[in-house]
Amino acid sequence: MDSARETSLLQNVPTGLFIGGQWRGSGSGATFRIEDPATEQSLVEVADGTPDDARAALDACVGAQEAWAATPPRERGEVLRRTYELMNERIDDLALLMTLEMGKPLSESRAEVAYGAEFFRWFAEEAVRIDGRWSVNPNGSGRVLTMKQPVGPCLLITPWNFPIAMGTRKIGPAVAAGCTMVVKPAQLTPLSMLTLADLMREAGLPDGLLNVVPSSKASAVTGPLFEDPRLRKVSFTGSTPVGKTLMELASKHVLRVSMELGGNAPYLVFDDADLDAAVEQALIAKMRNIGESCVAANRFHVHESVADEFAARLAQRMGAMKVGRGTDDGVQVGPLIDEDQRSKVAELVDDAVGKGAKVLTGGERVGDRGYFYAPTVLAGISDDAALLREEIFGPVAPVKTFTTEQEAIKAANDSEYGLVAYVFTSDLKRAIRVVEGLDVGMVGLNRGLVSNPAAEFGGVKESGFGREGGRDGIEEYLYTKYVAVDLS
Ligand code: SIN
Repeated sequence: MDSARETSLLQNVPTGLFIGGQWRGSGSGATFRIEDPATEQSLVEVADGTPDDARAALDACVGAQEAWAATPPRERGEVLRRTYELMNERIDDLALLMTLEMGKPLSESRAEVAYGAEFFRWFAEEAVRIDGRWSVNPNGSGRVLTMKQPVGPCLLITPWNFPIAMGTRKIGPAVAAGCTMVVKPAQLTPLSMLTLADLMREAGLPDGLLNVVPSSKASAVTGPLFEDPRLRKVSFTGSTPVGKTLMELASKHVLRVSMELGGNAPYLVFDDADLDAAVEQALIAKMRNIGESCVAANRFHVHESVADEFAARLAQRMGAMKVGRGTDDGVQVGPLIDEDQRSKVAELVDDAVGKGAKVLTGGERVGDRGYFYAPTVLAGISDDAALLREEIFGPVAPVKTFTTEQEAIKAANDSEYGLVAYVFTSDLKRAIRVVEGLDVGMVGLNRGLVSNPAAEFGGVKESGFGREGGRDGIEEYLYTKYVAVDLS
């Protein structure tokens, strides 16, 4: 990779707070460091937002809310559509920036920019389809009219693992519905979101509608917003413990809440499955985003008659993947986001191995710079291994066996999480039985990828509630007003 291009990109990247349509420094003048997880070197310093900056961002939202809600749906959609086009025009720069701050290989960053842009295209089309209902009272005496209105100013808190797409799938429906917003991007990866804000400004975004406040002190900055009754909604993607805290804060003024929280995705392979497809799709379900995804397959439950072959083939494929800086040619596995994350992954592997697991490939840190961890396949997992219960968020695939269909469903549901499950079988009746028996919000049926802007993404149990994308996505930013119409 051309380091002059990296330097020039970083020299031009926005590093301020974006409030009321203006770039500005933090009220305290403080900045914080953004690091390249592949080299552990500094990329840039970013303005460190304060509670007062967050309040100023909410003031800007409140100032812009009425006019934006009254803006014709087509115009609201057009801002998204023009940004979709700009994102695709600038995909190379956006992808490089994402790889620098987050670590994923360039090809995956490009895929995320394209995926993120599609949320804007989808919600540009949804803006003009917001509607209501008109019906006759059962006794014929009057009429029922329902209409949809924007919920109002929103706080959108986005994670580091998908720095653009997890933002666009919140920002897209909020903009389309007529809401204004404060975005708090992840401390580790704010550059992609700041660049997106700049593209939206270029695409004609009115001042004050979208405000971005990066900060190294997430709770100090977002806390005061929950005290302010002008905030009307919070949408969060991140860990379940943080989601629970935000739900408590949201209760103060009874905010609308959407929560996309943790996962512990089971990947079920039955004896009648197409094993080639099950292995191929496992690479996607496990290794997309270096395994740092809440929809990553966390545990593989494989029928005992095919488990050894499946594990050996998966180990052969994962062991052959090229690990390195995401900007280097042919790299398929980048670094983990930081040392904390790598240590957590290493601890989970050590715990499983200490309890009898066999390492088929990997099982160790890679290199002496950057937070690399080798793609790892483990077999012979004991029931009390922590990685069966905890979200691994790394390139580790534990393979366990099952004997009966009932046992597979029971094992899959044995988790407080319920985001997604993957099922591989060529028997249609079994597929329907298993899909219906799983306590999850999404199922990949003979597929290792469910993410799709046109589909409803979201979980049940401690994986959260609310749906992002699809038809339901915009509803999270609208409330229903019912009008009782008298005709007497
Ligand atoms: C995630 O939230 O980690 C996964 C997001 C996606 O695939 O859309």
